Order: sequence, then structure tokens, then C-alpha cells
Amino acid sequence: MKMLLVALLLISTTQTHAEDSALQAVLSQKGLQTVTHWLTDWLQNELGNITLPAVKGSVFIIFGSVEYVLYNMSIQRCDLPEPSVAFSEGTGMSLQVSGLSIAITGLWNTRYGIIKDGGWFELVMFTVSLNTVLQLGREDGRLSISTPVCSADVESVQMNFHGGGSPIFQPFVKFFHKHITSEIRAKICQTFVKEIEALESHLAAMSVALKVDSYVYMNISLTDSPLVKDSGLGLNVKGEFYSNNFPSEPPFPSNHFELSWREDYMVSLGASEFFVNSAAYAYQRAGALKIRITDDMIPKASPFHLNTSQFGQLIPQLPKKYPDLPMQILLYASDAPLFSFNKTVINVNVSASAKAYAMKANSVAIPLFRLDVESSFSGKAYIDKYLLKGVLQMKNLTVTLGATEIGCFPVGPIEQALKLIMSSFVLPKLNAQLKDGLPLPRVKGFGLRNSVMTIENGFLALATDLSAPYGSWQ
Ligand SMILES: *[C@@H]1O[C@H](CO)[C@@H](O)[C@H](O)[C@H]1NC(C)=O
Ligand SMILES: *[C@@H]1O[C@H](CO)[C@@H](O)[C@H](O)[C@H]1NC(C)=O
Ligand SMILES: *[C@@H]1O[C@H](CO)[C@@H](O)[C@H](O)[C@H]1NC(C)=O
Ligand SMILES: *[C@@H]1O[C@H](CO)[C@@H](O)[C@H](O)[C@H]1NC(C)=O
Ligand SMILES: *[C@@H]1O[C@H](CO)[C@@H](O)[C@H](O)[C@H]1NC(C)=O
Ligand SMILES: *[C@@H]1O[C@H](CO)[C@@H](O)[C@H](O)[C@H]1NC(C)=O
Ligand SMILES: *[C@@H]1O[C@H](CO)[C@@H](O)[C@H](O)[C@H]1NC(C)=O
Repeated sequence: MKMLLVALLLISTTQTHAEDSALQAVLSQKGLQTVTHWLTDWLQNELGNITLPAVKGSVFIIFGSVEYVLYNMSIQRCDLPEPSVAFSEGTGMSLQVSGLSIAITGLWNTRYGIIKDGGWFELVMFTVSLNTVLQLGREDGRLSISTPVCSADVESVQMNFHGGGSPIFQPFVKFFHKHITSEIRAKICQTFVKEIEALESHLAAMSVALKVDSYVYMNISLTDSPLVKDSGLGLNVKGEFYSNNFPSEPPFPSNHFELSWREDYMVSLGASEFFVNSAAYAYQRAGALKIRITDDMIPKASPFHLNTSQFGQLIPQLPKKYPDLPMQILLYASDAPLFSFNKTVINVNVSASAKAYAMKANSVAIPLFRLDVESSFSGKAYIDKYLLKGVLQMKNLTVTLGATEIGCFPVGPIEQALKLIMSSFVLPKLNAQLKDGLPLPRVKGFGLRNSVMTIENGFLALATDLSAPYGSWQ
């Protein structure tokens, strides 16, 4: 009975849905091929700078062993053919290099008993091939990579040893040739596996908390194992923002979404409503969504100024109580702005409060009243070439008197004034900017091109090609 209960519990826990991911990224086969091309070019350029580690060993010949060391080796030439790469469903990716040739020069030393010798050498390897599978997985919520399969071969090795006065050395060279060829054969995969292990420990050391700025960070842990299909690699990222100083879960749930994989673009990205709303919530928690408005911020030419006399038109009792004082307004989001994506349309609700103060000469602030403003906007956004463009309109705006230290007053005229300011100054200015477009950000040096952004139900989707981070990568 107890066993049955435990078994049932196990089944039910393994069947509970994994956490929703708010951010999904897909690398297509086209993307993989392009990135491989960039990496090959980059590697080809960097090879001249690589210093190879010294190779030490010993070879047994008739009366004892010859100890040798090959050192100060550098790559003189390398023809690096472009590897063929492909995703392998459920595992990761396969990588094959064939026909690589490489020329190395260096110094050699040998010791055979008390006889020491040394000189320089040239070594050319022809038709090196490497056949390997990289396995991708999830470990402690981050991407992990390993090399379960690796085989390598070298078709021929040519070696020329120079220097070395001792007669003992010459007969040894032929023997040595065989030895070093098999050493090289073994070293290729060893070296490759070591590089992947270095990459893996780099990944392991990365934090899942990606610092965005001084206000918020994003949790980038993976919610599922990487999804590998023949057509691409999908990563589901938690993608939730938290305030650096006051991290807490938002009061709204995450939403599930399915991103369609676009094979005609290098990368597809999806960001859910929850992604955007958790960012808004985190910024609000961090106290980033507030601004103190002073009269200096209003253009001199404006007919409207922040002072108690001017506010007399809207609040008659104000200038009577506090005549001719400048005012300040603390405007802040009383709740986090809430976004929703409804096929082609972005809706956003904004709850804000405005606290008004009269400023006395000794910079003492006298609280006057607080207005609560509920507003909703709808907008469209799209990408045109390299620019994010869009249009925003106000759907509704209501003002209520939240608190007052100067007695009640009707807020209708204030609401009308605010609507007028929004519709004749703020939105036209914002829309003019959105019409001209905002530049798309570069991500770690990668530019975006041929980008298409669509607003889907519950999420934003971006399909894009990438441009190489620096000239030498293209
Ligand atoms: C080596 O590194 C330098 C500087 O980092 C770079 O300019 C150069 O292109 C690299 N490659 C070769 C083959 O020297
Ligand atoms: C290694 O080779 C470079 C030039 O190829 C030379 O300048 C340097 O002195 C050598 N180092 C040793 C330890 O022999
Ligand atoms: C990130 O999210 C994962 C999964 O929900 C959680 O285990 C981890 O503690 C979070 N890390 C941070 C730094 O928020
Ligand atoms: C208040 O604003 C009005 C209109 O701009 C201006 O004429 C007046 O001088 C201002 N008063 C103070 C005290 O700043
Ligand atoms: C905005 O508010 C309206 C009514 O107040 C509501 O119907 C709508 O669902 C809200 N939208 C969002 C994104 O919360
Ligand atoms: C999305 O917008 C359409 C038309 O504007 C409306 O009929 C539909 O109810 C909206 N859906 C949601 C989930 O808000
Ligand atoms: C604006 O919002 C108020 C309350 O939030 C609501 O009563 C009113 O119907 C809304 N107006 C429009 C046009 O949606």
C-alpha cells in the first residue's frame, strides 16, 4: 500500500508541468551553419597566434628509453576546411571536419642515458579528420555540453628533423615517426574534449542571474532540457525579472506560449506577456518608475507652469491658501504597468499617482493633494529594416482624488486638462519618434537583420538573421 502511494506520488510529481518559460530562443540549421562559418574564419585567423603545449614522452629502443620533448611549436600553416554540422534529434549536434592539413615547426630535445641532443623540426600533417557528437543538456538550470563521441584520424605525417649531432639519433628518427603519428592521432580528440570541458566549466561558472542594470536582473535558468530537432535547437528560458534590492514574485501568473520555429531565419525568439510584465513589475519594485516634476523641466515658452497661482484655475482654494508658490509633482506608478498582447495589438494599463507639493522658500515641501490616474493605451509595433517603429494611442484616462490636505475640489477639469496634454503634446511627440523608428539593440556585438516582429496572442515573436560581431567574423 505504502509502495503504491509512493509510486503514485512519483508519477504525479514527474507529470506536473514544468515551469513556464517566458523567453524562448531557437537556432535553426541555417543559423548553426552561419555561426559555424564565422567560427571557422575566426579560428583560421587565430591559429597563427596559438602556442602549442610542449609534448613530452619516451620511446623504448634497444637498450633503454629515449626521452624526448618537442617544444616551442607554432603553427606555420593551416588549411581549415569548413566543418559540416547538423543537429541530431534528441542529442545535440554532430560535427565533422575532413581534409584539414597543418604545418608545425618547433624545437626538439632528446636524452638517451647521458647523451643529450637537440635541434629543430618541421612537421606536416595531411588529411586530418575529426568526427564528433556534442551532447547538449541541462544541469542545475543551465546549458551543459559534453563530447560522448569523438574519433580522429591522420592520413599521413611528414617530419624533418634538423640539427642533432649524435649518431645515435639518426636511426631513431624512423622509429620516432611511427610513435609521434600515433601520439598525434590520440591527441586530436584529447585536445578537442579538453576544449569542450573548458567550455563546460565556463558555462558551469556562469550565474543564472543576468544583471540587466542597477535596478533589475533576469533569471535566465533553463526551464527544460534543450530541445533538439533536426531543424534546430530550442532553449526555454525562465526569463523572469526581479528587482535587485527587493526581489519578489509578481502577483500575476506566468502564461504559456508556443513559439513557431522559423527555418528561413537564423534565430527565432519569443517573449511572453509575463516576460514584459515581470520586467515592469521588477522596475516598479525597484523604485525606477517615478519622477519628480519641477517647473524647470517645463519649457519657458509653455503657457502652463507649475505654481499655485496657475493651479487656481483648476483648484480655486489653492492660491488662497498658498499664494504664489512654485509647485512640484511626484509622479509614480502606483502599480506596475500591465501589458497584454492580442494578435497585432499591444494593450497596456497604467496606474499612476501624482502627489502635488507647494515649495516654500526654505525648500520645505507642503503636501497638497494626491491624484490617482488610471489610463489605458493600445499600440502597434513592427520592425522596418533596422528600426523599431510603432504607434500608440490613448484609450481611456480617469482621474480620482486620492487624498487632499486642502479640502475637496472637482477633478473633472483636471482630467480634461490631462487628456488634452496627453493627446496634444505627449502622444504626438512620442508617435513622431516611433514613426522615425528606434534603432534595434545589438546583442553581444551581433546585429539583427531581416528582422520580422509580430504580436501574437500572449507573446511577441521575432524572427531574424544575425550579422557578425566584427568584420573579421564575416
Ligand atoms: C593574432 O592576434 C593579433 C592581435 O590579437 C591579430 O591582430 C592577428 O590577426 C592574429 N592572427 C595572426 C595570424 O597573427
Ligand atoms: C621560441 O621561438 C621563438 C621564435 O620562433 C624564439 O624567439 C624564442 O626564443 C624561442 N623560445 C625558446 C625557449 O627557445
Ligand atoms: C532562478 O530560477 C530557478 C528556477 O525557478 C530557481 O531555482 C533559482 O533559484 C532562481 N535563481 C535566481 C538567482 O533567481
Ligand atoms: C506662475 O505661472 C504664471 C504663468 O506662467 C506666471 O505668470 C507667474 O509669474 C507664475 N508665478 C510664480 C510665482 O512663479
Ligand atoms: C486594462 O483595464 C481594462 C478595464 O479596466 C481591462 O478590461 C483590461 O483587461 C486591462 N488590460 C490589461 C492588460 O490588464
Ligand atoms: C483581442 O482583440 C479582438 C478585437 O480587437 C477582440 O475581439 C478579442 O476579444 C480580444 N481578445 C482578448 C483575449 O482580449
Ligand atoms: C474608462 O474607464 C472608466 C473606469 O476605469 C470606465 O468607467 C469607462 O467606461 C472607461 N471608458 C472607456 C471609453 O473605456
